[in-house]
Amino acid sequence: MQIAPSLLAADFTRLGEEVRRVAEADYLHLDIMDGHFVPNISFGHELVAALRPLTELSFDVHLMLEHPLSYIPQFLQAGADDITFHVECSDSIQETLDAIHQGGVKAGLVLKPDTPVETLWPWLDQIDMVLVMTVEPGFGGQKFMAGMMEKVRRIREHAPGLLIQVDGGVNRETIAACAAAGVDICVAGTAVFRAENPGEAIRMLQSY
Ligand code: DX5
Ligand code: ZN
Repeated sequence: MQIAPSLLAADFTRLGEEVRRVAEADYLHLDIMDGHFVPNISFGHELVAALRPLTELSFDVHLMLEHPLSYIPQFLQAGADDITFHVECSDSIQETLDAIHQGGVKAGLVLKPDTPVETLWPWLDQIDMVLVMTVEPGFGGQKFMAGMMEKVRRIREHAPGLLIQVDGGVNRETIAACAAAGVDICVAGTAVFRAENPGEAIRMLQSY
């Protein structure tokens, strides 16, 4: 299993060190929240750019924005290696996918828990990744929704080669269900950054 620690659960008073503590991960997951699409505000592209020189990890940028399109250039410039945005956003999905791909990075669509999986079907040949939310987006530390594994199975059937990521409530108990359903990448915030030894937590989760 590939693991993407979510910086949202890190100690914000020493982010540079926190990033170095998860160097063994496969990606660094960066949750960008606008206080509108979700009821929380996190951090923006300037923080992402500031962290970029500190690590070789791939930057996996998850945009929880009502209007992601106009921010794509900033996140490309900040060093994103892939950008995912919500299928429920208010911008043109086509234009947003095009803007990400024109920047030469991977693009993915994210589904909130109540969004039907069929919403993805028209976009399957234009996306590199799908992110299935396993909590309501907005906050770390919530309970994993095991029912979302059915969505993962249906996506896996429809698009065998597509990268499937899940986000929210993944820990050493819930990751088994993710692995069984065919998930490629698990985001884990609390389970990694709040562990006594984040490196060990990552290795444990990667072994699934
Ligand atoms: C929720 C975020 C997640 C979250 C994961 O809106 O997208 O990335 O921080 O945190 P945990 O692993 O604590 O649920
Ligand atoms: Zn996320």
